[in-house]
Amino acid sequence: MTSTPSSPSASTNTSLTSLSATHAHVFDLGRRYHAYREGAYPLPDDAQEQQRLELLHAVFLSAAGGKLLHAPLPPPAARGPRVLDLGTGTGAWAIALGEARPDISVLGCDLSPIQPRWVPRNVGFEVDDCESAWAYGEEKFDLIHVRCLGGGIGDWPRLLGQACAHLEPGTGWIECQELEMSTQSAAAAAARAYPALASWQRLLRAASISAGREWDAAPRLARWVRDAGFVDVRQEIRSVPLGPHHPSPALKTLGQQALALIHESLEAYSLALFCRELGWSREEVGALVGGLRGELSRAEADGGVYVRAWFVWGRRGA
Ligand SMILES: C[S@@+](CC[C@H](N)C(=O)[O-])C[C@H]1O[C@@H](n2cnc3c(N)ncnc32)[C@H](O)[C@@H]1O
Repeated sequence: MTSTPSSPSASTNTSLTSLSATHAHVFDLGRRYHAYREGAYPLPDDAQEQQRLELLHAVFLSAAGGKLLHAPLPPPAARGPRVLDLGTGTGAWAIALGEARPDISVLGCDLSPIQPRWVPRNVGFEVDDCESAWAYGEEKFDLIHVRCLGGGIGDWPRLLGQACAHLEPGTGWIECQELEMSTQSAAAAAARAYPALASWQRLLRAASISAGREWDAAPRLARWVRDAGFVDVRQEIRSVPLGPHHPSPALKTLGQQALALIHESLEAYSLALFCRELGWSREEVGALVGGLRGELSRAEADGGVYVRAWFVWGRRGA
């Protein structure tokens, strides 16, 4: 793997050196990846991935009926509420919340420095690994948001425990949102009609387990959140159709967005994981993705195939 810093070259000045380290990138397999804690997260962070993350944001908003959150936010108060967005990506969610609630300060952290520079005054970003010990000291947040970190986290119980410790006792909330990549179908026979997709999901799971950061966190989130010390834990699971078949205009739009997202996700999810963990070549991944696209088009034509969005939220006990 070759490292190619795209930021100013290292300097003898310590702070500049560390800025360079956090703002560098690594190029591999024809895509760009994060360099800080290199290799920890297997998806790229280049312009193509950033567009995929904007699509992901749109899918979650549509799946949640336009809501950024299910957990309650404290009302405007003397001390403005503080929100932390772990694995913020392009910061789309953090920026949307900051725009909607100028009284809230929102901090997003990510392994990749891919957030825009021009953001609302109440929104800030930092490069950090949320699996490390947090540097917030005694600082407490009112809400911590974790969206789509499946595949990036090796120890969910530890992460959620750390989140719980950094929330206001009694009033601080956590909200986790995950998209399950396994395609579902109303008819079991229809599921068997998509063998390439089923095999891809099995390989993805195996490769992510081999990497020590399993993809399919969604079904276990609620239990982990409870075990971490949260109370009033609630879970909602929404079906996200793949394709524009649904008669309802909102679900039609969601289906179109989700299908585009899955198409964009095939290579992003598979490339580094399958090459690094399963020993595949780039060409083999390309061929797999071609086959998956064919099946996805068939699934779109058939209708009735969907993935699931999971929303889990809970309050820190007093
Ligand atoms: C699928 S993206 C989701 C981005 C954003 N949460 C959203 O929903 O739009 C996952 C993000 O988590 C970041 N990430 C993964 N593991 C991380 C870690 N241990 N610490 C900080 N960020 C991490 C990745 O760099 C990536 O930007």
